[in-house]
Amino acid sequence: MKKQLIVFNINGEKVEVFADPAESLLYVLRERLGLTGTKEGCGQGECGACTVLMEGRAVNSCLVPAGKVEGKQVLTIEGLTLKAREKGLAVHPLQEAFVEKGAVQCGFCTPGMVISAYALLKENRQPSKDQVRTAISGNLCRCTGYKQIEEAILAASKKLNNELVL
Ligand code: FES
Ligand code: FES
Repeated sequence: MKKQLIVFNINGEKVEVFADPAESLLYVLRERLGLTGTKEGCGQGECGACTVLMEGRAVNSCLVPAGKVEGKQVLTIEGLTLKAREKGLAVHPLQEAFVEKGAVQCGFCTPGMVISAYALLKENRQPSKDQVRTAISGNLCRCTGYKQIEEAILAASKKLNNELVL
């Protein structure tokens, strides 16, 4: 398809990219904007490694055509770190909890997991273990067995303040 100018908001800033509207948001993020924190696993909506927030909802960016992003707000793992830095923190409390609980091993699933967790905590500040499981059910991890990831999200839910969730 012919390339076109696509304008959207990424991590709080307006961007304009010249892209094929049929290419994926994941490709735009990684290859056109250099935001490589979002990972490419399966490329088919199966693994969740590419999860970002679009209009406040967790989506698989590999399945979102660039043309559908026009005018939308997108948040990636880089944006989450920026939010934390604006509050004087080195990293977001969710990221910190993942490290503290041993929920990061190879780390490939981590950005997508953290974004899915963030989407959950935006809606539900004190989730149950089952709710955490459901929220990350679309994110595959080959390393941890999920227990540490669930513990990290529950730990973060206890120490997050509103400013860092909204
Ligand atoms: S890379 Fe998008 S779901 Fe696997
Ligand atoms: S930490 Fe390796 S895939 Fe999750």
